Parts: sequence; C-alpha cells; structure tokens
Amino acid sequence: MLSPTQPYAAVEAISYEPWLAKQVVVSVLRLDQFFPQLSGNKYFKLKHNLSHAQAQGYSRVISFGGAYSNHIHALAYAAQQYGMQALGIIRGDHGYAANPTLSDAQAWGMQLQFVSRSEYKRRAEPEYVRSLQQQYPDAWVIPEGGSNALAVQGCAEIAEHIRQGLGDNFDTVLLPCGTGATLAGVAMGLPPSKQVLGVAVLKGEGYLEAEVQRYLAQVANNSHAKWQICHDYHGGGYAKCDVALARFINNFPIALEPVYSGKLFFALDAMINSAAIAPGSRIVLIHTGGMQGLRGMQAIMDKRLAAAD
Ligand SMILES: Cc1ncc(COP(=O)(O)O)c(C=O)c1O
Repeated sequence: MLSPTQPYAAVEAISYEPWLAKQVVVSVLRLDQFFPQLSGNKYFKLKHNLSHAQAQGYSRVISFGGAYSNHIHALAYAAQQYGMQALGIIRGDHGYAANPTLSDAQAWGMQLQFVSRSEYKRRAEPEYVRSLQQQYPDAWVIPEGGSNALAVQGCAEIAEHIRQGLGDNFDTVLLPCGTGATLAGVAMGLPPSKQVLGVAVLKGEGYLEAEVQRYLAQVANNSHAKWQICHDYHGGGYAKCDVALARFINNFPIALEPVYSGKLFFALDAMINSAAIAPGSRIVLIHTGGMQGLRGMQAIMDKRLAAAD
C-alpha cells in the first residue's frame, strides 16, 4: 500500500519580493514534500497503477526511463511497497547502474535492463510492448513517465489538494509538462471556471497538446478546466539547463531542480515580468517534485555557473 503520512499536501503562500512587487499572488502546492519517496506527481500517477496490477493478479511491473528517471526511482519504491517485482528498462549502458537514482532503485529490489537508444525508441510500439508481455506474462507494463489513463485518474486527485488549501481562491494552476498526463488529470479535477497552464519542459509543440487531448478522451468525464501549454521555456530541450536557469534556481527561496520545477518557476517569473500574467492574478504552482534527480544535474549546473563567472 502507498500511505502518505498526511492526508493533504501543504499549500504555501510565496513571499518572493519580485512577484509581490507585481501584485501577483502565488501559492505553491508542495507535492514535493507530500510523499518523499514518491515525490511530487509520482504518488498520484502510480497509486491506481499498482493497485490495478495487484487486483488483476500481476506480480511484476515493467516500465521505461532514462538513467536519472524520477519515474523509475518512484516505481521501484512503489513496487517494493506492494511486494511486487519490478523491471526497469533503462536507456543507455550499464555504466549508469551505480548512479544515485539507479542505486536507490536496485536497493528497493528493481531489476534493470539497459537498452540502446534505438531499442529504447520502440518503448511505446504495440509490437514491442506485446513482446515484453509475452516474455513476462506476470507483468503490468506501464508507459514511460508512468503516463496512462490510470495515472490521469490519480492526477485528477491533485485538484482536491489545491481546494483543501485554497478553497476557490485561485484562478490559474501552473505545472511542468513532460508527457501531459499530469496536466490532463489536474484539468479533469477542476471545473471549467479554472485555467491550467502547462509549461513544456521539452520541445513538444503540437505533440503535447494531442497527448493531453488523447488522455482527456480516455477518461469518461467531459467537464474539465480550460487548459493550454506554453512552449517558450523548455530552454532548448529536455534536461537542458542554461546559465539563466541555473542562476534563477540558485537564488530562489524554495529548493528547485532544473528539469521540471526550475523551468516551471522560471517560466512564471518571466511571465510575471512581461505582464503575460497580470497584476492581481491568483496563481497556484504545483511543485511536482523530482528533487532526487538533482543528484545527477547539480554538477552540470555548477559547471554552467562557473563558466559564466
Ligand atoms: C518531477 C516531475 N515533474 C513533472 C513531470 C511531468 O509530468 P507529465 O509527464 O505527466 O507531464 C515529471 C514526469 O513525469 C516529473 O518527473
């Protein structure tokens, strides 16, 4: 069972002087602190996946990720909690096995299989998934990022955590967007009077919108918040971190990492500065966690900063 230690995540008001000066009211939903081992959105993405897998009699979960994947890290922990076996199919070579993310995953009992980039590209092909299912008939196969209809259903519950902290006193929810499943869930959990704005962390214009639409169509509920994805702040691509982003993260009063939360907070800062977000707006930022990944990114950030000095 996955049991958070508290019923709801904290919602904190941010007193960050540049934002206060522009009269934008910003609160942060601290999903990063809600369930430390299943940081951020991972608890919500995995809870129904694991209980479904167990209820259907599967004894193993299989999923896919990069060498620093938050999803692989969380899945390893969740599978251990459920007493299930776990196989992580990892992009790259065996040299990554000793990194902090994959060391944790193995310590929680996950078995790793390293695959080439070309094999990894096939991760969502029905034929490839079918061949895995034939090889492991006892396994529930979860897509990369944990993103499927069960994850969207779980992420819809994030809206209750916002309401618990703020009632109806907010206009727009901002969150980082990798596959779009979390955005789809949050939009589903909120009424059409609210706005959800996803900040794309990778180059995915068009594709991400189609993915969110696909997720929304999979879940039988046609009332949801208005939603949009902003593509101006991916900084060149997934896990790319330039000096401006590294500086912002270093100076911000809340702990951020550069792949998801850093890009989200940086985007809001730019939107407030350019008045794309108007004074008087009441914003909720979802801190979707992923701080474990900082262990692989800190050296890159430090290098960027040192080179700029
Ligand atoms: C920390 C963190 N935040 C945000 C996301 C993006 O979520 P999604 O892929 O559902 O868009 C991810 C990836 O799952 C993540 O690991």
